[in-house]
Amino acid sequence: MVDFNKVINRKGTNSVKWDEILETYQEDDLLPLWVADMDFKAPAAVLKAFHHSADLGIFGYQATPDSLYTAIIEWHRSQHQLELNKDEIIFFSGVLAGLTTALQAFTQKDEAVLIHDPVYPPFSSIVENNQRKLVRSPLKKVGNNYQMDLADMEEKIKQHQVKVMILCNPHNPGGRVWTKKELEALGKLCQKYQVIVFSDEIHQDLVFQPNRMTNFLSVDKDFSAFTIQFTSMTKTFNLAGIKNSLVFVKDPSLRETLQQKQEENFQQEINTFGLLGMEAAYTHGHEWLEELLQYLKENIDFTLNFFADELPKAKIMEPEGTYLLWIDFSAYGFSDEELMELLVHKGKVLLNAGISYGPAGKQHMRLNAACPRDTLQEGLSRIVQALS
Ligand SMILES: Cc1ncc(COP(=O)(O)O)c(C=O)c1O
Repeated sequence: MVDFNKVINRKGTNSVKWDEILETYQEDDLLPLWVADMDFKAPAAVLKAFHHSADLGIFGYQATPDSLYTAIIEWHRSQHQLELNKDEIIFFSGVLAGLTTALQAFTQKDEAVLIHDPVYPPFSSIVENNQRKLVRSPLKKVGNNYQMDLADMEEKIKQHQVKVMILCNPHNPGGRVWTKKELEALGKLCQKYQVIVFSDEIHQDLVFQPNRMTNFLSVDKDFSAFTIQFTSMTKTFNLAGIKNSLVFVKDPSLRETLQQKQEENFQQEINTFGLLGMEAAYTHGHEWLEELLQYLKENIDFTLNFFADELPKAKIMEPEGTYLLWIDFSAYGFSDEELMELLVHKGKVLLNAGISYGPAGKQHMRLNAACPRDTLQEGLSRIVQALS
């Protein structure tokens, strides 16, 4: 059994989550429940592969062996019932690097790109940084959950002649695991208007029963003609810092366009630890992931119960996947700035500001529950302290 309760001191390691914030917020004792990495050690098999390489002490250029492709193909077959061929797999040094290159490959300056609101903030920044036109379609809150507004999306696709839609599947920050039916409807819409779908599936392995992950490429064979699917093992196995990711493209013409742009930018070489970590994780990580999911689910339930008891005015979404919880604090009546100020300087706890996820994130915060239970409990008490 993996001991996810073990607290590991990450301070002083130049961690963005733990160290960078001290400088930004000038608070020594700030507890981070923000940026999406976990306070858990990676699986032992991954550490063994890293140690083996480090002990050799030579870090020359690294090839991508057949055994790595086999590990990727087997993982996606067994975990996701997704059939892949070796030639449909492209490596990138991160999902965002891949998304950016794909954006450059499939759109021109000023062409429109559709994203949901709220959604993972870099989606908007990569669109704007590349001088493409950003179009947001707000998700609808139905009960205490998000749904896509297909009518609004269709309207915007027509009005702005959208070329690409960047989908977050599962959804960060809301934790929705889009159903096959929802994805089918979205796909049909994009097919009708010849919109290329970039499906960011980095959270694909972090899904709680009875919810089921549906890869966009699995929805309908015909969707391959307009789908670029992105994923990585870095969220699943807590390896974000080693920067490695995968893109799956089944359509030969789309693949050629993407690979041409990748080569233009010389982005096809991946660092040694990315490749070693990926092969070890996908080959040996099944049991570790099962235990992780159980622990994360318990942390999520703990957080939901805590909010129900201590902060009943806050509306917290129960995630179907990811370890992220999306919280609506609007009933407290604080502005976004006041909310952040109270959490950071009164409660000494850091969450992600909801407003950075788009206008729909106003008066919301995103909480990362991927830490030992004691750390989580301390963080939650600090939120109560901040709002008391
Ligand atoms: C939806 C989503 N996409 C991409 C990333 C970042 O991926 P990478 O570090 O591989 O660029 C994250 C990180 O939190 C994420 O949540």
